[in-house]
Amino acid sequence: MKACVDQETCIGCGLCASLCPQVFAMEGDKAAVVVEDVPKDAEGCAKDAAEQCPVSAIAVS
Ligand code: F3S
Repeated sequence: MKACVDQETCIGCGLCASLCPQVFAMEGDKAAVVVEDVPKDAEGCAKDAAEQCPVSAIAVS
C-alpha cells in the first residue's frame, strides 16, 4: 500500500502524524509521507488518517 499527502491541500493539523507516525511526519507546517511502502502493520492507521484528515489531503491505495 502507498500513501500520499497533497501538500497543497494539507492545512498542517498534525492529525495524521499523531495517528500514524510510522507513515506520516510533519515537515515544517505540512505533513509528508516518510515511507515509500506502507508497512502492513501500519495500513490500518494510515487508512484512519486518510479518513480523518479534515481536508481529505491523504490518499491511500
Ligand atoms: Fe495535513 Fe491532513 Fe495530516 S491536514 S497534517 S494531511 S491530517
